[in-house]
Amino acid sequence: MRSLNENIYVSNQHRIWQKDLKDPKKAKQIKVHQFAKEVVKDLKPESKILSLGCGAGLDEIFFAKKGHFVVATDFLESAINELNERIKKEKITNLKAKVQDIAEPFVFWDEFFDAVYSHLSLNFITDAHLVKAIKEIRRVLKPNGAIYIIALSVSDKDYSDKTFGKGKEIEKDTFLRNGKFFHYFSREYLEKRFSEFGFRVEDVVTGKRIFFPPDGRVMGFIQFKARKSNTGRGRGRS
Ligand SMILES: C[S@@+](CC[C@H](N)C(=O)[O-])C[C@H]1O[C@@H](n2cnc3c(N)ncnc32)[C@H](O)[C@@H]1O
Repeated sequence: MRSLNENIYVSNQHRIWQKDLKDPKKAKQIKVHQFAKEVVKDLKPESKILSLGCGAGLDEIFFAKKGHFVVATDFLESAINELNERIKKEKITNLKAKVQDIAEPFVFWDEFFDAVYSHLSLNFITDAHLVKAIKEIRRVLKPNGAIYIIALSVSDKDYSDKTFGKGKEIEKDTFLRNGKFFHYFSREYLEKRFSEFGFRVEDVVTGKRIFFPPDGRVMGFIQFKARKSNTGRGRGRS
């Protein structure tokens, strides 16, 4: 049986994110994110990259233009359609855009990707869904493949503002605000979750940054890199 949080998730999340996508007041990606420029320096040539929650997909186009093979995913069909149009227009052959919900089993083969990339997209699911996603990330990564994450952290201003969006804490560090989940990550949480499902943590950086310049909001973030190791749980399908 589904938990209450899972029911809220299934009924609401696509609709709310779809509304945001159409809202001109909501922050949009207008240039390649700094994190993508850092990650690209760490990738071996012609890496196969899976991106989760790609939104407008500018980082993914950037990776493709650097010679990598990229599968960009988001759970919004409209975002994927827009990106597909752009791919076609720019004749980019090494980037595919596909609908994928991070909280659902991934439609990709075992041990196919060298890297998984997530830019501000893992914060919007609950702990139970993240556990499932980590198992899927592990499954689709090649041995020694890497996961690169940048996400909202517990140092973000809205985390401590308990009244923001009239949200309430539904599980540790996770708020339900206007129907949307906001799961803020601490270093301890990410390290624990990825280590217990068979990853070796290689790098963790925290800080504050403006991610969407026109919006101008400074966000508290955590940047995280881990590598699939041969030990730990979560080897098979979730
Ligand atoms: C804050 S935006 C970030 C977009 C882009 N990665 C960037 O940083 O500019 C979050 C993105 O994650 C997507 N998203 C949210 N929940 C998702 C889920 N469960 N599965 C797949 N995508 C999801 C949204 O549709 C949205 O495009």
